[in-house]
Amino acid sequence: MHDLSPRPGDLEPIETASVDELRALQTERLRRTLHHAYDHVAHYRASWDAAGVHPDDVRELADLARLPFTMKADLRDNYPFGMFAVPREQVARVHASSGTTGKPTVVGYTRDDLDMWAGVVARSIRAAGGRAGHVLHNAYGYGLFTGGLGAHYGAEQLGCTVVPVSGGMTERQVQLIRDFQPDLIMVTPSYMLSIIDEMERQGVDPRSTSLKVGIFGAEPWTNDMRREMEERLDMHAVDIYGLSEVIGPGVASECVETKDGLTVWEDHFYPEVIDPVTGEVLPDGEEGELVFTSLTKQAMPIVRYRTRDLTRLLPGTARTMRRIEKITGRTDDMIILRGVNLFPTQIEELILRTPALSPHFQCVLDRDGTLDSMTVRVERREATAPGDADAAGLELQRLVKASIGVTVGVDVLDPDGVERSVGKMRRIVDHRPRR
Ligand code: DLL
Repeated sequence: MHDLSPRPGDLEPIETASVDELRALQTERLRRTLHHAYDHVAHYRASWDAAGVHPDDVRELADLARLPFTMKADLRDNYPFGMFAVPREQVARVHASSGTTGKPTVVGYTRDDLDMWAGVVARSIRAAGGRAGHVLHNAYGYGLFTGGLGAHYGAEQLGCTVVPVSGGMTERQVQLIRDFQPDLIMVTPSYMLSIIDEMERQGVDPRSTSLKVGIFGAEPWTNDMRREMEERLDMHAVDIYGLSEVIGPGVASECVETKDGLTVWEDHFYPEVIDPVTGEVLPDGEEGELVFTSLTKQAMPIVRYRTRDLTRLLPGTARTMRRIEKITGRTDDMIILRGVNLFPTQIEELILRTPALSPHFQCVLDRDGTLDSMTVRVERREATAPGDADAAGLELQRLVKASIGVTVGVDVLDPDGVERSVGKMRRIVDHRPRR
């Protein structure tokens, strides 16, 4: 694989500033953000007044913990534009996240917000090893989803040649990769797997393409999946994280020279990790729910937004800013099976340790009487003989029992048996009756 470590002069000064400089910048930006939110968003004013805190009470970063959290429901209650802190005419673009039920959550950006966003995505692509002049194949979905346009403008700002393919039409994705010879690909990890399968179907050796780096995000994926991708594609695989309520992709991103978790671009997004039950702020290193406060956004400042994503904060390595560990899962995706908590990412790790199985899988939940049960639907690899599928299923069942401590059913299907997605993969299929 190519050495894509940054060279002297590649990084922005803030990426290697001292921790003290970074904290001073954050403190000043936080105070400005809190005043802006309090003065211009009725929801924040009412919520902080009710809690008896005023922006002037926040003198240092730790004081942020005195403010109430913002939840997805607060954004829904203020649908569509009630969380905006600038007149609607100054909003240059809106995005929305679909949400499985009810109204979508809407987010807005001023021109300056769009520039900042492109800036953090450019920084993320550069951290992944991208450079001006590279060709970037962008297979994140374009539209209200932030992935496509977010990646697009960041790549343009870095100086890449962008191929705005969006998701879907997998045959054509492979054709364009062969013809345009991209250096970089941005796509969800689950859809990358489908593209790899299509390459093989067309007789293209995935290791022979021009790709040097894949920048994968929008859904959880594990280090075992990284090894699988790097091996099958002979390229670097790095993680990019973000959420529409905070900005979109580019809130945190992995550095190719370390691949040790995602650097949070803390000069724009201040992270906290809290106990999801008590709401108490946890010290760095402890696992809990990630919470973000924007430090520079104008159109829609967001203060102490509960992401529901589970991870821990770690000290900086390749950059001054702190890292988050790869996301384990979301609080909403936690499966509780006979008293044992588990996440689809744990199943992914075990599938990837079962050589006969491919990483296309779903967790299907059912209820037999009063007890919940789970069946893992997974495909055998093309190279696995159909007759060996049952043994592979038993092997996975044994691994799950040994490492998670719970018995699950395993259905090993033929290649292509599991539903495919062109964006975020639906890992949990819940057939349990609603209580
Ligand atoms: O998924 C933004 C994005 C686009 C990120 C492209 C990266 C690449 P939403 O649709 O609002 O925004 O979904 C946000 O997706 O709270 C996480 O649960 C999950 N997620 C995003 N990136 C990662 C990641 C985009 N790298 C929600 N690892 C977040 C794990 C991720 N989960």
